Amino acid sequence: MELRVFADYEALSRAAAAFFERVVRQLLQKKTPIAVALAGGQTPRRTYEHLRQLDLPWEHLHFFWGDERCVPPDDPRSNYRMACETFLSHIPIPSENLHPIPCLDTPEEAAELYEEELRSFCGPDPCLDFVWLGLGKDGHTASLFPHTPALAEKKRWVLGVHPKGTIPRVTLTYPVLNCARWVVFLVSGREKAPVLAMILKGRPFPQSCPAAGIRPLSGNLLWFVDREAAALLQEPAS
Ligand code: 6PG
Repeated sequence: MELRVFADYEALSRAAAAFFERVVRQLLQKKTPIAVALAGGQTPRRTYEHLRQLDLPWEHLHFFWGDERCVPPDDPRSNYRMACETFLSHIPIPSENLHPIPCLDTPEEAAELYEEELRSFCGPDPCLDFVWLGLGKDGHTASLFPHTPALAEKKRWVLGVHPKGTIPRVTLTYPVLNCARWVVFLVSGREKAPVLAMILKGRPFPQSCPAAGIRPLSGNLLWFVDREAAALLQEPAS
């Protein structure tokens, strides 16, 4: 696991985009296509805006989502919409390279369909090449929320979930997220400092802090955080 602390959100976002470019260029020397899972929420926005400036062979990349809210694709809460607005609508990528999570009648139906799509792309092992993740104040990541059944899932790659206090969602599960070659968390802001410190210093159980359950089996895990989010990580001066 590697922690990188940046002065502020802009520096974090710029560095994350540059890191992505470096990894993708390395991967492209060995294989195509490259499979990427995008994170939702607000933190990745600026990173995605930097990604769209890159001159990569986008036709060799396929984009999936780590999770999605069960709303129409043009809904302001849609992770698909956020990624298109900030990034995907601005690059020359074939539409068949974009794999949004469908919003069907029930999250369970959407999850089944998405799992089929992911399996037909990945084959028997759910190994994506690069996974972006965010971190909620409660320790959730993707749509893996504390004390929910999805955390115990060992076989399914995609599940429909009904977290308390938020809309139903569809999420990739630990078997997929922990099979990735590269996993990068983007964490910004003072409100995330307590949960980040708990994860990186406290080693909490994934049940209470699902992001702590992201432990790639053979892949690389990096945390790109800004100084505000890292505020509780530095040891107090002795
Ligand atoms: C979502 C995300 C979720 C997000 C965290 C952090 O659909 O909401 O996938 O896991 O990454 O909630 O969100 P912010 O970046 O907005 O703080």
